[in-house]
Amino acid sequence: MLFDTHVHLNVSHFDDDREEVLQRAKDAGVEKMVIVGFDHETIPKAIEMAEKYDYMYAAVGWHPVDAIDMTDKELEWLEKLSSHPKVVALGEMGLDYHWDKSPKNIQIEVFRKQIQLAKKVNLPIIIHNREATEDIIQVLQEEKAEEVGGIMHCYNDSVDYVDACLAMNFYISLGGPVTFKNATLPKEVAKYVPDDRLLIETDCPFLAPHPNRGKRNEPAYVKLVAEKIAELREQSYEEISTKTTENAKRFFGIK
Ligand code: NI
Repeated sequence: MLFDTHVHLNVSHFDDDREEVLQRAKDAGVEKMVIVGFDHETIPKAIEMAEKYDYMYAAVGWHPVDAIDMTDKELEWLEKLSSHPKVVALGEMGLDYHWDKSPKNIQIEVFRKQIQLAKKVNLPIIIHNREATEDIIQVLQEEKAEEVGGIMHCYNDSVDYVDACLAMNFYISLGGPVTFKNATLPKEVAKYVPDDRLLIETDCPFLAPHPNRGKRNEPAYVKLVAEKIAELREQSYEEISTKTTENAKRFFGIK
C-alpha cells in the first residue's frame, strides 16, 4: 500500500476525469493521500474532497508565490479550517525565489505568520522551497518550527541540508525528480534519509516521474517513485511502500 503525501487533485487539470484518476490510484495501491490547498479556489476544494472520500485528508496553507495576497482575513480563515477533522497539516507554505510576484520580505513575513499559526493550533507544516533553502532553514529555526515538525515537500536540494531538517523534526518527501535520469541530488538524498523520516509524493499534476515526465502527473504514479527509491536504497518495494506509509500515518496522526 502507498501513501501519496502531496496531491493537487483540487485543480482544473483533473476536472474532466477525476473519478478515473482516483480509480487508477486505487488500482496502483494508493491507500491514502493528502490533498493540498494553497489559495482561495483550491482550499475549499481540498476540504470538499477530503469530506467526500474517507481515504483523503487535507492540508491548507498560503502559497509563497501569492504571499502578497494574504491578509489577516486569510490567516483567520486558515485558523478556522485548522480545526476541521480532516485537516492534518498547514501548508504548503514557505519561500519561492524563482517567481517575483511577492517580494522576499513579504514572503518571509507570511511564512512566519503561518508557522506561528501552526504552533498555536498544533498542526505540522508542509514546506514549499524553491531556490530559498538557506532562508527557509533560518526561518524554521528562528520560529522554533521543531515544536510542530513538518515535511520538506518535493525535496530537490543538496544532501548537505538534510541533517538540519531532521534536527527540526522534519520528514523528507521525494517525488518525480528522483526518477529523472539527469537528477543526481534527489537520488543522493533518497539513499541518505533514515528509514523513519522518508515520505513519497507526486505533487500531481506537476513533476510526473519517468517515463511520464512532462505529462500530467497523477497519484497512481507515486508507485514509480517508490520503485525508484527501493532500487536506489537496495531495499524491496514492499519495504519502501510499508515504511513510507507508516511514516506518513504517524506524521499526520492518521490511524
Ligand atoms: Ni504542491
